[in-house]
Amino acid sequence: MKKKIIIIMLIVIVVGIGIFIAINYKNKKEGKNDMDDKIIEKLQAEDNVRKFDFESKSVKLNSGYVMPINGLGTYSLKGDTCYDAVTSALKSGVRLIDTAYMYGNEEEIGKAIRDSGISRDEIFVITKIYPSQFDKPEEAIDMALEKLDIDYIDMMLLHHPGTNDVKAYKAMEKYVASGKIHSLGLSNWYVEELEDFLPQVNIVPALVQNEIHPYYQENDVIPYIQNLGIVVQGWYPFGGRGHTSELLNNETIMAIAENHNVTSAQVILRWNLQKGVVVIPGSSNPDHIKENTEIYHFSLTEDEMEKINSLDRNEKHDWY
Ligand SMILES: NC(=O)c1ccc[n+]([C@@H]2O[C@H](COP(=O)([O-])OP(=O)(O)OC[C@H]3O[C@@H](n4cnc5c(N)ncnc54)[C@H](OP(=O)(O)O)[C@@H]3O)[C@@H](O)[C@H]2O)c1
Repeated sequence: MKKKIIIIMLIVIVVGIGIFIAINYKNKKEGKNDMDDKIIEKLQAEDNVRKFDFESKSVKLNSGYVMPINGLGTYSLKGDTCYDAVTSALKSGVRLIDTAYMYGNEEEIGKAIRDSGISRDEIFVITKIYPSQFDKPEEAIDMALEKLDIDYIDMMLLHHPGTNDVKAYKAMEKYVASGKIHSLGLSNWYVEELEDFLPQVNIVPALVQNEIHPYYQENDVIPYIQNLGIVVQGWYPFGGRGHTSELLNNETIMAIAENHNVTSAQVILRWNLQKGVVVIPGSSNPDHIKENTEIYHFSLTEDEMEKINSLDRNEKHDWY
């Protein structure tokens, strides 16, 4: 009987050691280590949250750089329309411009910035490299630097998760070391993707840019990201083209706008800011561009914030 117990115990120990070795081997192969959970836990402290400064209209990133909290999105703006929109935005005081390799407008944006006469260090430019570029990231980064031609890139994001995303991010880390990129970030990364990705890289991203609007609020994802010390930025603040009129004419939002003598667009942008979400509305209309900067002279009450929160439909307006 005693012998049997000893044999069973030995089997349990051997199997246990086997499982332990197998898990460690798998983690090592994936570039993870047993500190991973602790790193995430340490990052996940509420006092990590980067607070917005509504006076300077900016936020200090975990990279040490300061970024404006409202900007201009340039998706679908091309050629002269893009150049004019960026020029108009800069004239209206916008100092944050969001672009991407995929938008095909980095050259126009760089030119508008150079022509503006505004000191380079006053402007914050975000661009992104696309998954199709992840296998040759250095080429992609050099191309962005060349097209923008503004000496350095303030922030570079991976546009989507994809094959070789860790490799691409690690290449961007090298450009941070050389000063050609100041801060790094991710776009379209959610909780699971972050849990998997963060332990594999050295620089904690400074920003995550995801779809966020009153009909798709990500109320569970936003605090998770913010508690990691990462700033959240929302794309499609007005729901994206084809959806804007439904959102801007929403009765709840219109009533709140009337209350403050502002527009629905301004209410939506302000709602984002009060949730700690940076806004990058897209527009080629100079009046809209200016209107979208005038979001600091009023604030929404808790009740109004709640009313907009209750509009959430978990309704994504794009696939990513
Ligand atoms: N990371 C990603 O995967 C991703 C995906 C999509 C977008 N983005 C970024 O997010 C930015 C914002 O998204 P988006 O530009 O596609 O959509 P959006 O900002 O939700 O909506 C843009 C639309 O809103 C209109 N608009 C802007 N300001 C307005 C105002 N004050 N009143 C009435 N209408 C107004 C614009 O028309 P007018 O031109 O007439 O003003 C345009 O048709 C993009 O430009 C891009 O930089 C990122």
